[in-house]
Amino acid sequence: MNAPIVQITHCQEFAAAHRLHAPELSEAENVALFGPCNNLHGHNYRVEVTVAGPVDPVTGMVMNLNDLAEVMRTEIWQKVDHKDLCQDVPFLNGVVTTAENLAVAFWNQIAACQDQLGDSKLVRVRVVESPDNFVDYCGEAQ
Ligand code: NI
Repeated sequence: MNAPIVQITHCQEFAAAHRLHAPELSEAENVALFGPCNNLHGHNYRVEVTVAGPVDPVTGMVMNLNDLAEVMRTEIWQKVDHKDLCQDVPFLNGVVTTAENLAVAFWNQIAACQDQLGDSKLVRVRVVESPDNFVDYCGEAQ
């Protein structure tokens, strides 16, 4: 029998400051577009990383969630918690720190550690910026 493919998710929270500012737009355009979000402010973010893989018939697991947690801690959390995302995070250099771009950047951080994910495949990164807003990135590009 083929092993069922199951998605598993680990979540972590971090607090960080940012401002939304697109360097290719003028100051006035940035204020008009982003409003108060053009000012430095903070969020309590939640990152959810989902991987998928076959359930190991012996362990009953897709992968050890502690291993996924460790990759997220090392590659994301330690680099962003209590930081200014616009100033202090090398992998976000030059990135407009919208939730969309954070999801893509976090995906790339995790994807670079595929060797630590075993046979599991990264399928989704969700960034929850507020109770009302979250974004998903599933690796697609055009
Ligand atoms: Ni914000």
